[in-house]
Amino acid sequence: MFLANAKVDSVTQIGTNVFLLKLQSEKIAKNAKPGQFVNIKVSKSSFPLLRRPFSICDVEEDYFTIMFTTIGEGTAALRQKQKGESVDVMGPLGNGFSLGGNYEKAVIVAGGIGAAPFPFLINELEKMGKEIFSFSGGRTKNDCITYEMKNVSSATDDGSFGFKGNVVELLSSKIDPPEAGKNNKIKIFGCGPKAMLKSLQQFCLENNIEAEISTESSMACGFGICQGCPVESATDKNKFLLVCKDGPVFNVKDIELS
Ligand SMILES: Cc1cc2nc3c(=O)[nH]c(=O)nc-3n(C[C@H](O)[C@H](O)[C@H](O)COP(=O)(O)OP(=O)(O)OC[C@H]3O[C@@H](n4cnc5c(N)ncnc54)[C@H](O)[C@@H]3O)c2cc1C
Ligand code: FES
Repeated sequence: MFLANAKVDSVTQIGTNVFLLKLQSEKIAKNAKPGQFVNIKVSKSSFPLLRRPFSICDVEEDYFTIMFTTIGEGTAALRQKQKGESVDVMGPLGNGFSLGGNYEKAVIVAGGIGAAPFPFLINELEKMGKEIFSFSGGRTKNDCITYEMKNVSSATDDGSFGFKGNVVELLSSKIDPPEAGKNNKIKIFGCGPKAMLKSLQQFCLENNIEAEISTESSMACGFGICQGCPVESATDKNKFLLVCKDGPVFNVKDIELS
């Protein structure tokens, strides 16, 4: 983990309220793994604003990118960043996805801004020769983010784009669950809102499909000190795992999503 003064290269709008912030920090870019995140001090002046966590969306040489939607004060401040400005960034943080295994097909399942960690993951999986299929879901067409995804199928709750329904319903209509659960030929990587992750977790557990999900929680420190980001362990009811340190990526078998 490094504390870096990352230089803003660009802020680009890629969708309705979806932005990419490209930052230069050799230390963070060179040490990042797909699924890890950075904790950004969004504004120099606005004490007591905490840092805000964002998935590392992609890396290229000394640069890394985050993808964000504006929600409140912190993300609004990020949107206003100017080229050349310095941003105080802590990272890379968290564990990241496990890429190893015998699976041939990698299946990406993203809900809304849950698409953020996948460009980096997809690049690495492609280098490993995995076949990639992506499923992107959102409430409406504008919430369905497909940036840098491969072989994409989309689902919207209102039917304004692609399949009408949620992204897990779409996934289950496209893959043959008993076949997918056999021989460990498929691995699912999911990220999105909690309700989507719960339903994806249930689908994978019922059909014995290998899967990892990237979870979210409110965070303060971002590296295991404040105990502010607990998630219940599925194997030991008396134990809590920390999203920032033990996650944000978990095997679907390991956590209880409340
Ligand atoms: C590990 C991790 C990775 C993340 N990666 C990304 C990412 O790649 N891109 C991205 O856009 N966001 C990501 N998030 C969420 C992001 O950190 C929050 O959206 C951000 O902190 C909001 O800050 P803000 O100051 O704009 O809003 P705040 O002022 O903090 O919040 C404004 C309002 O929105 C609510 N709110 C805050 N966060 C969320 C949320 N995630 N969903 C719904 N309501 C919320 C608050 O309760 C409050 O009511 C990630 C979170 C975690 C824990
Ligand atoms: S955010 Fe402090 S322990 Fe996780």
